[in-house]
Amino acid sequence: MKILVVGSGGREHAIIKALKKSPEAETIYALPGNGGIARDAVCVPIGAKDIDGIVKFAVENKVDFAVVAPDDPLALGAVDALEAAGVPSFGPRKNAARIEASKVFAKELMQKYGIPTAKCRVFTDADSARAYLKTAPLPAVIKADGLALGKGVIIAQTHEEADAAIHDMMENKVFGDSGSRVVIEEFLEGPEVSVLAFTDGKTIKPMVSSMDHKRALDGDQGLNTGGMGTIAPNPYYTNDVAERCMKEIFLPTIHAMEKEGCPFQGCLYFGLMVTKDGPKVIEYNCRFGDPETQVVLPLLKSDLLAVMQATRNGTLAECPVEFSDGSACCVIMASRGYPQKYEKGFPITLTPDTDEITTYIAGAKLGESGELLTNGGRVLGVTATADSLKDAIANAYAAVEKTQFDNAFYRRDIGQRALKADR
Ligand code: AMP
Ligand code: GLY
Repeated sequence: MKILVVGSGGREHAIIKALKKSPEAETIYALPGNGGIARDAVCVPIGAKDIDGIVKFAVENKVDFAVVAPDDPLALGAVDALEAAGVPSFGPRKNAARIEASKVFAKELMQKYGIPTAKCRVFTDADSARAYLKTAPLPAVIKADGLALGKGVIIAQTHEEADAAIHDMMENKVFGDSGSRVVIEEFLEGPEVSVLAFTDGKTIKPMVSSMDHKRALDGDQGLNTGGMGTIAPNPYYTNDVAERCMKEIFLPTIHAMEKEGCPFQGCLYFGLMVTKDGPKVIEYNCRFGDPETQVVLPLLKSDLLAVMQATRNGTLAECPVEFSDGSACCVIMASRGYPQKYEKGFPITLTPDTDEITTYIAGAKLGESGELLTNGGRVLGVTATADSLKDAIANAYAAVEKTQFDNAFYRRDIGQRALKADR
């Protein structure tokens, strides 16, 4: 089979490496991919948001199956366009991708169907938002409605910070039109858990749980990033929490989407907080998480291509989705300065992959003589699998020590919080 994967990050590299293991996979194209992905797939310089270009390439090259990984093309209707051109595709259609693309849509869905989440109010003008915030409890959580590269959430500790966030989002438009509407919500407390789940719209099969580390610096300090590292499984996701999630969140969500006329097919990402009142939804994403995918897929025992096809064909109930009992840890090696300004173009020395160690390449390009150079904020995701979480963490860091590029920067405490819970 000829398979096409849209996207260019570490998540896409992990998807491609997993797809490659399928006996059915012959050629894998990455649009656009990156210099590291080029080791595992044929990279084609067509941007992830160039929907017409993607469809044209898929049709001309007789692609048998397409996987659309990032949120932007999903929100732009890439799956609708590919399917209309006769290319079977993995991922939600545009109307279902709204579950991530519009926080207001997601909040209204949860309110209507009684799915546990933080209480919230929606505002379309800055003055009413400011007036409400004067009396709202602190900290206040302020979110831009639309996509904002994971950076559209401000947790304001003071009324001044809240005012500044409203000014930036609604008046200065730092996130563009994404800030035309804002959601102001109750601050929740508890450990966070990420659960990615395959769903064909009727059946939902959660993958092994994981924990992201979103802040830039050790001890969860510094700015919010796309994610600085992950571990799986997440020890806070106990069997009891998992059962409650299935009953109170996962099944109600896919049934709600079906009732609203926008059944969700693909990978649905539940960003959860395990509060003292039970699990609550912090956010939905309409796609695999990055870097969650880099710890979840290495633990998948089933054939990813077969699962993706079942998800698309509505036959997920009959398709096994099994994970190993082991653990995984992914440490992101970033460019110093990320998520703000950083330099790029430095040569990368990788540690060789083994059965237990894999480096997923995110922000890299090939230089003139074929050498790998840094080319982004998050450069590498160094991942280890092992029987225990402790060993996975130790092995991932041992591999990080052997990996090198100038200005490399990474957190030293990925997985420490989970280890404490694990005891
Ligand atoms: P989001 O982009 O919605 O995932 O938010 C980014 C991060 O902000 C989350 O991973 C949480 O750590 C935090 N956050 C979002 N909403 C809340 C909330 N209601 N209460 C506490 N923390 C939150
Ligand atoms: N790691 C968080 C996300 O993919 O949105």
